Amino acid sequence: MKNIAIVTGASSGIGRSFLKLIIKERGIFGGVPFDEVWAIARNSDKLNSVIDSLEDERVLPVVCDLSDPSNLAELEEQLASETPQVGLLVNCAGMGIKGAVEDQPAKAIEDTVDINCTALSKLTRICLPYMIEKDRFYSKANGPRIINIASSAGFLPQPGFAAYAASKSYVINFSRALAFELADYGICVTTVCPGPVNTEFQSKATGGASAEFTGFRQYVVADPDKLAEASLRASIQGRRMLIFGFSQKALHLASKIVPTDLILYIESRLMPVEHPQTITDTTTAEEPKEEDT
Ligand SMILES: NC(=O)c1ccc[n+]([C@@H]2O[C@H](COP(=O)([O-])OP(=O)(O)OC[C@H]3O[C@@H](n4cnc5c(N)ncnc54)[C@H](OP(=O)(O)O)[C@@H]3O)[C@@H](O)[C@H]2O)c1
Repeated sequence: MKNIAIVTGASSGIGRSFLKLIIKERGIFGGVPFDEVWAIARNSDKLNSVIDSLEDERVLPVVCDLSDPSNLAELEEQLASETPQVGLLVNCAGMGIKGAVEDQPAKAIEDTVDINCTALSKLTRICLPYMIEKDRFYSKANGPRIINIASSAGFLPQPGFAAYAASKSYVINFSRALAFELADYGICVTTVCPGPVNTEFQSKATGGASAEFTGFRQYVVADPDKLAEASLRASIQGRRMLIFGFSQKALHLASKIVPTDLILYIESRLMPVEHPQTITDTTTAEEPKEEDT
């Protein structure tokens, strides 16, 4: 039976960094080196160019819109026909649109929940029959693994990024619960919570208005390669949670001990949410622009 890794969000940013590292992995995640790495994203040109640059024939493109249930069903069929062992699942695909809720197309909010929450949970469920082996109890050192990319945005509600922050709270809570469920099979689930990371995410989140993080976030921007490296290491060590970087650990602690309203009050003074002059009907609101780069 072939042992595969699946990486979503593989056409850019953190997902691409994961791909670069995973092809070097040998011998854990279900027992043998990966025979194939399924790299999932929507943009086939970008995905193929990432895969070409890796020069490893085990990496296969799977063009799939994870927010489309029929695409997920096709992926499920592909798994059913090939019946691989899934040694590693990295749920990395994600998106978010910044701005006041009344300033966003309803579709952007729908997509945020569909991709960040629904697709991540459904894909995990779809892969589990190919990870769980009833007759074989993996040890912490050699079992299959799931790495879910959440965000420190999920520690607290975030005015101006409300749907995204709430979706990442979902990812954190879903993944942490799953970690305890799957421990019974020796499958490790690692929830990764980075702060700002240097990828196309910020540009997409602002509709191309700003590729750089602003305010205090600009001083704590992480490198996607280092984040992916730390995440894989945490997964190999069997850790359930990785909060990446000192500033994000401090934020996590603050979110546990400081009243949430007080943090939100201070944040709203430092970074007030901009409200639109007029509120458009959701049917006429513009779709968020995504950069092609
Ligand atoms: N960058 C940050 O500051 C930051 C901080 C904390 C957490 N994160 C999280 O890290 C993860 C990766 O983000 P990133 O920073 O690497 O951003 P990115 O460079 O924008 O990458 C996002 C990836 O998700 C894929 N994707 C988006 N929608 C999809 C869909 N419907 N179906 C399939 N694939 C889809 C994109 O590929 P296609 O467009 O080709 O489909 C792309 O490969 C996300 O979950 C994000 O929330 C990012």
